[in-house]
Amino acid sequence: MKKIWTLLAIAAISTLMAADGAEIYKAKCFSCHGEKAAKTALNKSQVIAGWDAAKIIASVQGYKNGEGGPMKGVMKPIASGLSDDDLKAVAATISSFK
Ligand code: HEC
Repeated sequence: MKKIWTLLAIAAISTLMAADGAEIYKAKCFSCHGEKAAKTALNKSQVIAGWDAAKIIASVQGYKNGEGGPMKGVMKPIASGLSDDDLKAVAATISSFK
């Protein structure tokens, strides 16, 4: 019985610490990519709604490494400010938008 409580406690703590994709999206992406990622950011980006998580992660990793389109300078500092966990969480959130 004791073991179960310990496991529950660990599960609760890791849930609290897990990056929250929806919060990250609201705080760091929403202003440009819009509600449900359906806008062209600054009228320049592709609409990323409908992208799968792997494509979003690859693209944002690219910005970290200085790759991207003509407006990549906008995305670079944003991409660099995301940890791998944040990026995974926010990519999962974006790919789940309907
Ligand atoms: C200040 C406005 C702004 C914010 C905030 C912003 N973006 Fe972007 N994003 C852009 C622009 C502009 C582009 C197009 C850049 C280019 O030319 O490659 C872009 C492109 C992208 C692309 C690739 C789409 C394409 O056109 O190839 C992805 C994926 C992306 N952003 C994800 C995110 C995520 C995730 C966040 C939040 C962590 C975010 N963006 C926050 C402006 C923004």
